[in-house]
Amino acid sequence: PFDWYERMREAAPVRYDPERRTWDVFRYEDVKRVLNDDELFSADPQKADDFVEPEAPGEGLILDTMLFEDPPRHGELRGVVDEWFQPRTLADREPHFRELAGELLDDAVGPHGQMDVVADLAYPFPVTVIAELLGIPPSDRDRFKTWSNTIVEAASDEENADAFAERQQQTQMEMAQYFLEMIEDRREDPQDDLLSVIVTAESDAGGRLSREEALGMCILLLVAGNITTTNLIANAVRCFAEADGDLFDELRGDDRALTSAIEEVLRYRSPVQAMGRVATEDVTMRGETIEAGDRVIVWLGSANRDERQFEAADTFRPNRSPTQHLGFGHGTHYCLGAPLARLEAKVGLSALLDRIEHVRLTEAPLQPTRSSFIYGVESLPIRYDERR
Ligand code: HEM
Repeated sequence: PFDWYERMREAAPVRYDPERRTWDVFRYEDVKRVLNDDELFSADPQKADDFVEPEAPGEGLILDTMLFEDPPRHGELRGVVDEWFQPRTLADREPHFRELAGELLDDAVGPHGQMDVVADLAYPFPVTVIAELLGIPPSDRDRFKTWSNTIVEAASDEENADAFAERQQQTQMEMAQYFLEMIEDRREDPQDDLLSVIVTAESDAGGRLSREEALGMCILLLVAGNITTTNLIANAVRCFAEADGDLFDELRGDDRALTSAIEEVLRYRSPVQAMGRVATEDVTMRGETIEAGDRVIVWLGSANRDERQFEAADTFRPNRSPTQHLGFGHGTHYCLGAPLARLEAKVGLSALLDRIEHVRLTEAPLQPTRSSFIYGVESLPIRYDERR
């Protein structure tokens, strides 16, 4: 998409697309402005003129979450789980995350010298981590992976739209049913996990969360952090393998360098390319008038390549700093899971660097992810030499 972004940044930085009936915003400065203004640009899709109520009962749950709420309710919802995603809270769990990544890689890495970064590490690792934080028993994790995948999938060409919608609904219902059971369970027997935190907020005297909101939050936490982190890890391996010299060698054992390289991946190949907002009043940008009730898409992936903000924006510079990329969004809805995603990427990639060297991409053509707003690949086969 990057050539298209560049053309749009120059020729039509803010433009209306009649086919999708939405505005597109491409420049860094403008994207940041939209994300900074919750009053003018609401995160709630229900405020759009052309909003259609979801048909299935389970499907609307995600609309009751912080992601789609404006202040002040947004802050109340986010406050329920905020503490769990702070870097210092997560630091306690880092050794355990290391073990999980290690287990996955011990199964995948061997003298045969090949693996699929997505299937062997980038996909299972974040699901396992969030499942553990939530408190999902290991025996249910496979079901989990399937759900989280289905939810963010786009309809593929082979499947017709109705069949796709039906499968989505089915998944939403199954997931809701499952979480309802888990919520009941935690009510009787609270544990040291996120599910219990959410249940406590639901049953507070003041009732901080409704049942729908509690369910929605479980689903949000499950889906928001998986496919995104999967693609961060896979995009990182791809960037490192394409870089000049042997970046794997340079980053091995150097957590600071690895941390900054991960930030550059978030800028250069942002896993989340776009976010939606709705204008609440008429507003003029770059000479165009966006009307109240219009939908607006901000292209994070384009903002992150804007030459006005980043020198040599189309070059991957692993030691670029400080970068101020918008890969995790900006402002009120700045990604809650950013510290977790960064930790998972660091732990996952350093576990990989410890085990393999001389990493090469294979000749196999890369297939882009099927989800339209996610940037990444469906699988990433590599060859390597095992380190002993
Ligand atoms: C919000 C990206 C990982 C949970 C966001 C937003 C972005 C984003 C761009 C802003 C949405 C908006 O402005 O409307 C990413 C990327 C990730 C990642 C690129 C991985 C590389 C995670 C993880 C979790 C998570 C691991 C948690 C398990 C959330 C939540 C929100 C959010 C709950 C909504 C925050 C709010 O509305 O206040 N994420 N995310 N994300 N993310 Fe992430």
